[in-house]
Amino acid sequence: MKDTLNSRLKKLREDDLLPMHMPGHKRNPGSEPDGISYSCDITEIDGFDNLHSPEGVIRGIEKRAMDLWGADDALISVNGSSALLVASILSHTMKGDKILVASNCHISVWHGIELSGATPVLIDPDTAEDTPFLLGADPALIEEKLLSDPKIKAVVITSPTYEGIISNTGKIYEICKKKDVLLIVDEAHGAHFGIKGDNLFPPTSCGDIVIKSVHKTMSAPTQTAVLLMFGDRADRRLLRHFLSSLESTSPSYMLMAGLENALIDPRVDNLYKIAEDLRSDLKSLTKLRLYTSSSQDISKIVILTCGYMTGYELADLLREDFLIEVEASFPSYIIAMTGTGDTSSSLIRFAEAIKAIDSTVEEKAGKRSHAPSLPSVPRRYKMSVSKALRAGSSKVKAEDAAGQISAEYVFSYPPGVPLLIPGQEISEDILRFMEDLKAGGTNFKTDPYRQWDGTLLKVDTDA
Ligand SMILES: Cc1ncc(COP(=O)(O)O)c(C=O)c1O
Repeated sequence: MKDTLNSRLKKLREDDLLPMHMPGHKRNPGSEPDGISYSCDITEIDGFDNLHSPEGVIRGIEKRAMDLWGADDALISVNGSSALLVASILSHTMKGDKILVASNCHISVWHGIELSGATPVLIDPDTAEDTPFLLGADPALIEEKLLSDPKIKAVVITSPTYEGIISNTGKIYEICKKKDVLLIVDEAHGAHFGIKGDNLFPPTSCGDIVIKSVHKTMSAPTQTAVLLMFGDRADRRLLRHFLSSLESTSPSYMLMAGLENALIDPRVDNLYKIAEDLRSDLKSLTKLRLYTSSSQDISKIVILTCGYMTGYELADLLREDFLIEVEASFPSYIIAMTGTGDTSSSLIRFAEAIKAIDSTVEEKAGKRSHAPSLPSVPRRYKMSVSKALRAGSSKVKAEDAAGQISAEYVFSYPPGVPLLIPGQEISEDILRFMEDLKAGGTNFKTDPYRQWDGTLLKVDTDA
């Protein structure tokens, strides 16, 4: 058989590869909406509403989302949280405005900023000794920035983060409201939060706009997401306008039906229970360690490799010896994602594999230490994102690029958080950080038009 996408997907279906990654339905047939297939793939025919100005069954899905999460209004997306984040930023900021962004924001936040022309003001989330990733956003730091800069119109933070860290959005929202600044919370990884009923997961974030990728942890198909509005400060007209401009005029009814199904039958209670069982099983690890914190979503399984191996090596072992694919690997940890499509037996299989690796890993003389996964180094912006993107540019070897201005995004993926954005000075600190990542086995991605080849694209300032 020829090697095609179709043949690979069919093979994947036959293999017994355990997905500890998105989407949250985990390819479990029990998560699929009953009877939805190509025979239901339609366009906007009579009786089926229109995503671009919904008033019938599609508006019904939005109303269901409002009800499920107690929101004042909602929009659905078949272009992920990515389109919802871009639309939110466009609806509230433009050239001349400033927008406060946490430095661990997703690439789509940067795309929104780039298109709106607003100037980004960056804040670094908290860090902790021995924790190789960024933590929550600090409300005091946000307050300080808002007090010192009246041009800031909106704040964007990610909560929970890729590693499941939850910020104090209640406090941050209070601060934003006092200064009449819009709070947009990227809750892409927290669709399962705050669902009405006896759900033990944390409440949904506070904010004017809260965006959830329902496909990441719940049973909806990839690309489906929901934007929730609380209060009346979000501009409903502009939100729908910009979202419309970012989505296909032929949105997939199969995706929308899958999203509706996930909202009808959320199944998050079971997820809480099996994730809790998995965590208590992993407490017995002796060399590897399960990251735990009271501000972490328990559904995110972060295994610290504690210097015994790299996260990449652990991910390879899981794939090759145990047929388990994790969500992401980093120099010193891996992220395994649980979702509503998991069962207690799928999570026991994962726990057994991790425990088997833990018990066979050799005690090494000196434990290796590894670089953190995201930079917490000073960043300087010399030019707006959109100007730098459009400027004359040329390639330069990374090792010779210090002091230049980046003309492109560079990020280690996942999680899609940029190390460099267009207009940012390519500093010695960033280059050193990239060197450390490279030594730990990280690959970089640049803008989609090219593959990483060890060069950076710099703005030709003297052209
Ligand atoms: C923190 C965060 N925000 C937003 C997104 C984009 O979400 P979507 O895949 O639904 O477009 C991602 C994607 O992985 C993400 O990790």
